[in-house]
Amino acid sequence: MHALRGQIAVVTGGGSGIGRAIAHRLSSQGAHVWVTDIQEENASRVATEIRQKDEQATAYRLDVSDATAVKRFFENVEEECGRVDILINNAGIAGNPALLVHMRDEEWMQMFNIHVHGSFYCLREAAKLMMKNQYGRVINMSSLAAETSLAGFAHYGAAKYAIVGLTEAAAKELASYQITVNAIKPGVIRSALTQGILSMAEERLSQATPVKRIGDPEDIAKVVSMFVQPDADFVTGSTVVVDGGFSLMNDMDRVMLEALRE
Ligand SMILES: NC(=O)c1ccc[n+]([C@@H]2O[C@H](COP(=O)([O-])OP(=O)(O)OC[C@H]3O[C@@H](n4cnc5c(N)ncnc54)[C@H](O)[C@@H]3O)[C@@H](O)[C@H]2O)c1
Repeated sequence: MHALRGQIAVVTGGGSGIGRAIAHRLSSQGAHVWVTDIQEENASRVATEIRQKDEQATAYRLDVSDATAVKRFFENVEEECGRVDILINNAGIAGNPALLVHMRDEEWMQMFNIHVHGSFYCLREAAKLMMKNQYGRVINMSSLAAETSLAGFAHYGAAKYAIVGLTEAAAKELASYQITVNAIKPGVIRSALTQGILSMAEERLSQATPVKRIGDPEDIAKVVSMFVQPDADFVTGSTVVVDGGFSLMNDMDRVMLEALRE
């Protein structure tokens, strides 16, 4: 029940959606969770929710794309807690859709600054602390958009593919320190990020998913929790799709299922 008791966890983008669900899940298993987000109020709200359950959390305003701020944050965590056991690189944005030929430099750079550079800065600083302690669990949030990149979202897709590359190199470099690094590719999960698409196409997307529903943030938090357990020490460099089977389905499957089901 309290498998993470005494552990220190950092969740980026923990103020809403998937990050919030992960923060709750890890604290419920005994970890002290640093709920970080660029939206300070949201980070504070989630930390308060956690403390109201008699679990441990600290809120911190952190923009992951700011390398100096990330360094300062981890120095702060080391000063206060002396260690970091778990890092969840989750902060992200969906960005505005645009065809490549119309994509503005600023939009492209922002996507990479947050997802790729942000994950790298946090992983670099957390890894230094984890190496001292010879233990660590890192999860990087990729996306189904890194299975086959989505038209109109070349910036998002490219950034999420890069996160898989970061995960694989880090897993090799850090394995001898008992640090595992894995990535998750969520499918469509209900959150602020998917509000727009769900308001247009929730029913269609649910029907196209073998489990016949849209994912909830808790669906991702449950899988994160599996990979950050101390005994998940043989899983590293892996990328796990969590999408209710959505990405498996093609038109031929639909034809066959319709034909064979009574
Ligand atoms: N919701 C989905 O369907 C889905 C699917 C695949 C991947 N993802 C990924 O999951 C992660 C969480 O997304 P979500 O759906 O919970 O969205 P969300 O918008 O609810 O949460 C994202 C959080 O990241 C924070 N954030 C944004 N920029 C930041 C920055 N520079 N520094 C720190 N925090 C920042 C936001 O304030 C927000 O709290 C993202 O990386 C997203 O790309 C989501």
